[in-house]
Amino acid sequence: MNRKKVEDEINFKELLSNPLRLFAIVYPYFFIVIILIGIFYVKNLDSISYNTIPVSYIDSLNVERDIPLKKGGIMPAVDLSKIKSPDQTIIDKGKELYDANCLSCHGAQGMGDGPAGVALNPKPRNFQEETGWTNGRNFQDLYKTLQEGIIKNGMAAYEYLSPADRISIIHYMRTLAEYPEITEEQISEVDLAYRLSEGTNVPNQIPVKKSESLIIKEFKNSESQAGLFNYLEKTSELPGARLLKEYSFDPAAVAQSTFYGEIESTTDDFIKSVSLAPNERGFNSSIISLDKSNWQNLFTYLRQIANLNKQIDAK
Ligand code: HEC
Repeated sequence: MNRKKVEDEINFKELLSNPLRLFAIVYPYFFIVIILIGIFYVKNLDSISYNTIPVSYIDSLNVERDIPLKKGGIMPAVDLSKIKSPDQTIIDKGKELYDANCLSCHGAQGMGDGPAGVALNPKPRNFQEETGWTNGRNFQDLYKTLQEGIIKNGMAAYEYLSPADRISIIHYMRTLAEYPEITEEQISEVDLAYRLSEGTNVPNQIPVKKSESLIIKEFKNSESQAGLFNYLEKTSELPGARLLKEYSFDPAAVAQSTFYGEIESTTDDFIKSVSLAPNERGFNSSIISLDKSNWQNLFTYLRQIANLNKQIDAK
């Protein structure tokens, strides 16, 4: 009898013809699904927020620019006698170089209105203005600007252009605005400072970052490094080694920096400092959820690695 009553209460035919009532029955399932998705999301937050910044000293201001990779070579000597009276080919060459290298910031007429300069502060120099220059408008000032740049203000150095090319750019710039006369003294001053008439030998240059990685690569072949890798291999089954593998995105790098660097003297210090910035130390953020005994294991293992270097050194 009861069963019949239930059927009476939920009249499915009527339900289908009345969507609102149908919804009243279905909506709890929506909640369940949303809650399940929510739980899944929170449980997986860890992998979502995984941060895979490689172990390195992070420049928090991020203002430091690395020097670019450059091929060196012999820079030909400059004919000083032509500096005072450039011929048209020199000026044409200067225009070509100016358009390729400078126009983007300084603009076609040298008014500092190029598209790439819009966001810069200070603005790229307007060559038509006579005041407010950082280095100045004399020949030797312009040469210095192109040789050394005004890096802090966003004006790059163009020392990779040959001295003759730089001088031809200066000649072209001088056609865009009025500049002070070039004097013999200025020419000989620049010659003295930068040895224009001798020609210079410019060495190859590689970015600091790249040189670091090359040095590390070289280290890998060295004896103590071999000792470290040998040790890592032999101890890979220790609990500490497993934790290192599990909680670090680059276990070898962590081992190396411990090996060559310092490690805290107590477990508590270690926990404190790693928890503060796990990624900077080469660990995943999830390491902060380790329990005390695992922290202890990891710390003991890393200490052994740190001591290992001293032992190898002592030999
Ligand atoms: C990325 C943009 C940019 C490019 C490209 C650039 N400059 Fe500049 N330049 C600047 C900025 C910004 C300043 C202002 C620096 C200052 O006020 O100290 C400047 C200043 C100068 C000055 C004036 C220096 C002084 O004493 O105040 C000269 C000359 C100059 N640039 C020449 C050139 C030449 C020539 C080129 C191409 C070979 C070039 N610049 C390419 C941004 C640029």
